[in-house]
Amino acid sequence: MQTPGKISLRYREAGRRPAFALCGCLLLVLCGLGPCLAQAQTQTLQVLHWWESTSEHKAINVLAAKLNEENIQWREALIPGGSGVGASIVLKSRVLAGDAPEVAQLNGMVTLGEWADLGLLLEFDSVAASGKWDKLLFPTVLAIVQPRGHFVAAPLGIHRINTLFYNRKLFSQYDLAPPQTWDDFERVATKLQQAGIVPLAQSSEPWQVATLFETLVLAESGPSFYRDLFVRKDPHAFADPRLAHALGRLRMLKKWMASPIQERLWTEVARQFADGGAAMMVMGDFMKGELNAWGFATDGAFGCTAVPDTGNYHLYDVDTLVMLATDGSHRQAQEKLAQIIVSPAIQSDYNQIKGSIPVLRNPDLSKMDSWSRASWKLFSRGAAFQVPSLVHRMATDEMTKDAMIAVVHRFFMDDQISVSEAQRRLGAIARAMTRK
Ligand code: GAL
Repeated sequence: MQTPGKISLRYREAGRRPAFALCGCLLLVLCGLGPCLAQAQTQTLQVLHWWESTSEHKAINVLAAKLNEENIQWREALIPGGSGVGASIVLKSRVLAGDAPEVAQLNGMVTLGEWADLGLLLEFDSVAASGKWDKLLFPTVLAIVQPRGHFVAAPLGIHRINTLFYNRKLFSQYDLAPPQTWDDFERVATKLQQAGIVPLAQSSEPWQVATLFETLVLAESGPSFYRDLFVRKDPHAFADPRLAHALGRLRMLKKWMASPIQERLWTEVARQFADGGAAMMVMGDFMKGELNAWGFATDGAFGCTAVPDTGNYHLYDVDTLVMLATDGSHRQAQEKLAQIIVSPAIQSDYNQIKGSIPVLRNPDLSKMDSWSRASWKLFSRGAAFQVPSLVHRMATDEMTKDAMIAVVHRFFMDDQISVSEAQRRLGAIARAMTRK
């Protein structure tokens, strides 16, 4: 397993290696062609991100190839680790050490606002203005990428986190319908377990446990209470019985998982699901991109449906790249990347591979599969149907998110911790972060 914190820098094949570039440069200068070269010289953007899976690589290759056409080289700074826990830490350390990459994956309106306040992010309002981003982008996305009124992030795509994957072969073999409610789920899971099949694939990695938890909160209560907890952080909401029910269900669901629950990467759990080792899995629809990349077609071997009792809502996660305000020498290349990211063709190609939907109000729907089309249609219904994912930084700041995930994870792992104790601990975090 790769450990977070190890920076891997790789030059994309399409680009020239510095040693070769230097030799070529010297040769041309000697021949008196220096001025011509200055114009054609390849620029490099180092991009720090956490996309390490097959589909994630394929998706960023779309961006890298387009950049390459512009004579800009995408240079990898990959910090592995699902949901970017390691990448966030490394990015902060590098910025503090005065070694910021030119580009970084940085998600969430609150986080972007904090970084913008510190003057760390390049503002590229002119790119957004000439590309008419205000007309092209969904309002929610627009709000995320201009947290202080200036454009500081380029939006790539929107994932739906409340996605339940199910094995279509097993479901038809046992004559089961995809569960729409948690009561349905219990009936389906009982039959599967009686047949010797693990009903639900799950890792004990904290963010993956919290993914299941946030979908349960939404199922139990709806967007308004969800926002009370994770966006407004109202300490009183944490004593509410609806949170108790969600925590209770999280614990009860363990009986449908393989025991012991192992700490595995999301791609490893997805592989277990793809191989028929479990009949269902709750994960963001980046897993759809991954299953597709492995050769499983949507609505072929597997199907997607909303997590039970959340069908009316889109629990979203918007991926964004920021351009770090370095010495200004990369500005042109950074702006070009921002412009490329929002172009309709790239939006379509990238998101088809990634499993997400374009950030555009009018994308090409014909190229989307059934789940993406449903996801886009629901998201485009507006804010009342959209719910910001806690795990993926859409609801609150990084520290609150991490603290809450740690509590949920401990509660899940240790049956000695009571529901009310977990509520108390979560409420204490909210109180500390809001000083109420
Ligand atoms: C999310 C990110 C996705 C995907 C996922 C798994 O936070 O938005 O694009 O990479 O993590 O690591």
